[in-house]
Amino acid sequence: MARIVIAEFMDERAVAQLRARHEVLYDADLVDDMPRLLREAADCDALIVRNRTQVRGELLAALARCRVVGRLGVGLDNLDMPACEARGLIVIPATGANALSVAEYVVASALLLLRGVYGATAEVAAGRWPRARLGQGREIGGKTLGMIGFGSIGQTTARLAQGLGMRVMAFDALRDPHDPLYATLNVTGATLEAVLAQADVLTLHVPLQDSTRGLLNAARIAAMKPGAVLINSARGHIVDLGAVAAALRSGHLGGAAIDVFDTEPLAADARLQDCPNLFLTPHIAGQSAESNERVSFLVAGQVLEALS
Ligand SMILES: NC(=O)c1ccc[n+]([C@@H]2O[C@H](COP(=O)([O-])OP(=O)(O)OC[C@H]3O[C@@H](n4cnc5c(N)ncnc54)[C@H](O)[C@@H]3O)[C@@H](O)[C@H]2O)c1
Repeated sequence: MARIVIAEFMDERAVAQLRARHEVLYDADLVDDMPRLLREAADCDALIVRNRTQVRGELLAALARCRVVGRLGVGLDNLDMPACEARGLIVIPATGANALSVAEYVVASALLLLRGVYGATAEVAAGRWPRARLGQGREIGGKTLGMIGFGSIGQTTARLAQGLGMRVMAFDALRDPHDPLYATLNVTGATLEAVLAQADVLTLHVPLQDSTRGLLNAARIAAMKPGAVLINSARGHIVDLGAVAAALRSGHLGGAAIDVFDTEPLAADARLQDCPNLFLTPHIAGQSAESNERVSFLVAGQVLEALS
């Protein structure tokens, strides 16, 4: 029987599946008690985390017996991957399991941002009638969705957006623009410059790594089509949030939905207060009742297999 430590939230039924075969310590708040996490980690055979546990440095050093790290999500930026590999740790991400939740978040955000009418509740309830001001919102049908990163989430998002009549173009640094996958999915493979210049809705689906840190900087935001809306559900540090706020205030950007931040939780940030047509969410794009279940069962199943 192996010992499994789960340091962040996991679906209880998937935890029960692990408990049926192994000794399990499950504490969704363990991530916030580093001294205890280090103690518990010392004699575990498998560690399961979401995105808040930093599997690097002293935690990695404490994992004396551990063979497997399950990641309840897909971004691996909270793991020191070279060090995990050097230690021979098997890392198990929940590849693809939350793609639909993120894709739905992107499409819903695009609809909200383009139309721009859903913030009127207080005015309408107060008896004002801002109909003339709100009557120029935009339809999504016929607009161009530009994507940076065309992996699992990008491809799922493309399919949903096409269902709403969007034209989709994508830039992926690791994929040839003539890759037949693009034609198969009716997507235009393009350069980064072309995507920035032509997208009415720009969405990012790349991992945070050296090549993507600071990718959407002030100069690239300035190169975006005037009035375009931006959605970042990838990672903080990829987009310059100060530059986004400035572009919203100047009117160059028509709106933005931001789910991920350089530091999470986000501290109060005056640059983001009262920005026009800005939606902020607390790193929730990939989380839904259904995806939590899929992610948890996928990781539980693969951790069991790796331990057997
Ligand atoms: N907000 C959330 O809740 C949430 C949920 C899931 C995933 N994510 C983020 O979304 C990211 C993408 O997830 P995925 O499942 O689509 O990953 P994926 O690995 O399937 O796809 C990522 C794509 O990015 C491409 N890429 C890598 N470097 C690039 C670069 N410099 N420029 C352009 N493209 C580049 C890769 O070739 C790949 O096709 C994850 O790494 C994670 O950080 C966020």
